[in-house]
Amino acid sequence: MTAHWTEYDPSHFRMTTGDDLFDVHDHFTRWRRDAEPEGYNLYLQSLASAPTPSVRLERNGTDLFNLASYNYLGLSHRPEVIAAAQEGLARYGLGAAGSPTLSGLLDIHKDLETAIAAHKGVDDAILFPSGYSANIGIISALVSPGDSVIADISSHASIFDGCQFAQARLSLFRHNDMSNLKKRLETVQGRKLVIVEGVYSMDGDIAPLDKVAELCRQYGARLMVDEAHSAFIYGEKGRGLAEHFCIEDQVDVHFGTLSKSLGGMGGYAAGSSSLIYYLRSYARSQMFSCALAPPLVTGVSEALRIAIAEPELRTKLWHNVAVMRETLLELNVDIGTSTSQVIPIMVRNDKIIFEITRALEAAGVYLNPILFPAVKQKQSRFRVSVSAAHDPDQLRTAAQLIAQVLKTHKVIK
Ligand SMILES: Cc1ncc(COP(=O)(O)O)c(C=O)c1O
Repeated sequence: MTAHWTEYDPSHFRMTTGDDLFDVHDHFTRWRRDAEPEGYNLYLQSLASAPTPSVRLERNGTDLFNLASYNYLGLSHRPEVIAAAQEGLARYGLGAAGSPTLSGLLDIHKDLETAIAAHKGVDDAILFPSGYSANIGIISALVSPGDSVIADISSHASIFDGCQFAQARLSLFRHNDMSNLKKRLETVQGRKLVIVEGVYSMDGDIAPLDKVAELCRQYGARLMVDEAHSAFIYGEKGRGLAEHFCIEDQVDVHFGTLSKSLGGMGGYAAGSSSLIYYLRSYARSQMFSCALAPPLVTGVSEALRIAIAEPELRTKLWHNVAVMRETLLELNVDIGTSTSQVIPIMVRNDKIIFEITRALEAAGVYLNPILFPAVKQKQSRFRVSVSAAHDPDQLRTAAQLIAQVLKTHKVIK
């Protein structure tokens, strides 16, 4: 490898043509050795604190204003949530010590599934070890080789990976483009599952769910909505984007995670009792993996109780989102197409984004650079996650610091 390290990115090291399978590791390690001292940051920077509005970098002990953690309702560190997790730990121990199909299913898992189903207004729900594994398990259980998944091109990696695992025919439509979705529905043969997200995780825009649902109805396709970033915060009752669009009864699979708005970990599918009963026997990523850890289950159950009981948290979140959006826009920061609590700060330059990350850190702001493969090449950005736990004045100050740094690096005028 003779070119400067900036000529490469991780996409260049995925395949090897040499005889030894491990050649690829060697090349990648050499590139990292060149790149890291010069500032190429591979995201593996550990924190030495909870994901609260202020976080501490383990590397140098610096405290920074945190705009990078999901934790949209600030529930991960609420005293009641911590106490509930401690109770779960004291009563059930650290792990469930079994798959949910066998010995791992505890009463607290069933209680949480029932609570999620009641909140969503559907028959039943099933828990998974993570949102990622939920997508793998749900898609591969529902779709067989020969069936088609029609998905938005900006879908999360777990949706693509689920389709691969299912050996489904995958047909992509242009991001949020309903005429393109219609075209796909017209041309794709056989049984069809349409998958869209509520809030898109890297752009922060939302899917026009009413139009998607109407097209699915028209063309006889089933609909799955990944509400990883919209569950518990959208809709009058916080039931998600499907509630916001009044199409809850038109969604066949309600997908969500417990790691974003509830500040915990895990994934779920919610829907009809026959769907969930079927998934319990065919979603391999659930059946062949240990059930969620008891402290997590009791902590998340309390987080869900608070999310439902305190609608003012959502009011605070949306107020904070408005403050952050408006301040960034007033300062000419490019936030792409975002309309949600996920606000990208577009940089579109893979080479300077690490330098800007360090400048932001020096200014007291914690943000992670997002590059390929999370987004397309030359679409690099920072992703701001606004939380109800943030203080609006601190958000204004952070927006000003971000704009100043972007100006210094000539990203904005
Ligand atoms: C749209 C979407 N689906 C699924 C997931 C996976 O969820 P988890 O991180 O809880 O595994 C994510 C994670 O960021 C996501 O953004």
